[in-house]
This record gives sequence, C-alpha cells and structure tokens, in this order.
Amino acid sequence: MDLQIKGKKAIMAGGSAGMGRATAERLAEAGADLVITARREERLLNAAKEISEQYGTSVTPVVADSSKEEGRQALFKACPDPDILAITIKPPAPNGDFLKVTPEMWRDSVETALIAPIEIMRHYIPGMKERGFGRIVNIATFSAKNPMIWRLMSGPARSALINYTASVSREVAQYGVCINNILPGMFATEGASELLLTYADAFGLEPKEDVAMNHFLENNKIPAGFVADAADMAPMAALLCSPLSRFIVGQNIVIDGGQHHSLF
Ligand SMILES: NC(=O)c1ccc[n+]([C@@H]2O[C@H](COP(=O)([O-])OP(=O)(O)OC[C@H]3O[C@@H](n4cnc5c(N)ncnc54)[C@H](OP(=O)(O)O)[C@@H]3O)[C@@H](O)[C@H]2O)c1
Repeated sequence: MDLQIKGKKAIMAGGSAGMGRATAERLAEAGADLVITARREERLLNAAKEISEQYGTSVTPVVADSSKEEGRQALFKACPDPDILAITIKPPAPNGDFLKVTPEMWRDSVETALIAPIEIMRHYIPGMKERGFGRIVNIATFSAKNPMIWRLMSGPARSALINYTASVSREVAQYGVCINNILPGMFATEGASELLLTYADAFGLEPKEDVAMNHFLENNKIPAGFVADAADMAPMAALLCSPLSRFIVGQNIVIDGGQHHSLF
C-alpha cells in the first residue's frame, strides 16, 4: 500500500528507540523526510544514521527534551512546518505504594505526559490548519483507558491527554488536520527494559528484568500470549500519519494483544 507520504515532512519526537524508532522507520520507508528527537545524543545520532542509510531518506537528529520548553524550541527551530507529527515521551517511573505519591511526582507526570505533547501540538496546529493538511499521532499508553495501580505516573496524565485530543481533533478536522492516539500495551522495547527494573524496585522484587517481567505477565494476562515488538505497532502509526486516514478523527487505538477488556 502506498501511504502517499513521499516527500512529506515528518517529526518523530522521541524517535531514537522503541516504538518511536519503529514508527520513524515506517515513515522513512514510505519516503517521508524526517526529524527525530530524543534526550540521549549518542543513541539518537546512531538511529538517524541507520534509518537514513537503510531507507535512503533524510533523517535529521535533534537532541531535545520534549518536556522542557528549551527542548521544544530546539525542535520548532529544526522543523517549523511539518506535515506529520508523531510524539512519544517517557513519563516518570512506576510508583510503588500509591500513598507515597507526592505532589512533586504528580507535577513531573503532568509536565511530561500531558503538557509536553499539548505544547508541541499547540505550536504546530495553526500552520497545519493554514496549509490544509496535518496528521498528529500520540503514542501514549493503554493505561489511559485501563487504569493500573503501579502506573499512576503515566495513566492519569494520558487520560487527560486523550480527553484533550478528543475535543481538539473535532475542532481541527475541518481543516484537514487529524489527531489520533495509539494506546500501547506491553511491548519489549529499550524503555520497557528500563521500566521493568524500576517496576521490580517499586514492588520489592529481585532487581532483574526477567523476574519483573514474569511477575508482570502473571498479573496481566495477554490473550495473544506474547509481549509485542515495537514493529507490531508501527504500521498503525504510519497509517494514521497518511493522507489515507483522513476520516479517522479523535480515536484511541489500543494495541495490546487483547489485554484490555472493553467494548470501546
Ligand atoms: N513499552 C511498553 O510496554 C509500553 C507500555 C505502555 C505504554 N508505553 C508508552 O509508549 C511510549 C513509547 O515507549 P517505548 O517503550 O517505545 O519507550 P523507549 O524504548 O524508551 O523509547 C522512547 C523514545 O522516546 C525518547 N524520549 C523519551 N522521553 C523523551 C523526552 N522527554 N523528550 C524527547 N524524547 C524522549 C527516547 O529517547 P531518550 O530516552 O534518549 O530521550 C526514545 O527515543 C511511551 O510513552 C511509553 O510510556 C510503553
């Protein structure tokens, strides 16, 4: 299928690893010119080089923390007029006892998982409206719809994000700008490996990734029977970035192997 994005300018904010990188690869494969961001420079530069060499498209790396105004300004300068904007960002680590969650932890969560993507969207939406085309995809989390006691630093802020995009997407769809969210379940990414160690710590388990993963799987049955690869969500992200998705507006697409029990 031709995604019809050859030559379009695309941003993958958070594109050096995991689902962000997998999405960047699908966009590059379809011929988009990319700007990818991340906080850690070495991995970002390697990712940009590898993606560019593999798919023969332009990939510009920008070291930028999306949760900081300074980082967002660096992105805005590097790419003032994208056609496509995909955003992912790492919220604070899993909390342990919910009674120990402090106001500072909430502020960090909201600043990162809610205000950061909103500020990036708020900056780019006027230009997209003016040009009559835009695609925005947030890679958030299924815990936005499926609350988890150990993901209080991720789920609630993302529930607010999908509430925000539900409203804004209906406002801007008439200008050719479509905003949708992907809500991933359990994916074996670089970020998940880091997260599992803090998960183990929060739940007093042996600080080993496999111990935490087994504990997690026992407590969260995945009907598909496996933990996914980042590549399992990227085709959906790429489709939502395409002109072909012009009638998909304000949706939250859960990709979790059936783990989330809900009709909608
Ligand atoms: N993996 C899972 O099982 C899972 C489950 C549910 C939800 N999610 C959500 O899905 C999203 C992607 O997760 P993932 O597992 O693919 O993560 P990942 O492997 O850590 O990749 C995240 C990418 O985003 C970048 N990034 C993170 N925070 C950033 C920031 N503040 N500013 C700029 N770039 C940033 C990372 O690079 P740097 O670290 O160098 O900045 C990396 O390139 C996250 O929002 C996560 O909460 C993941």
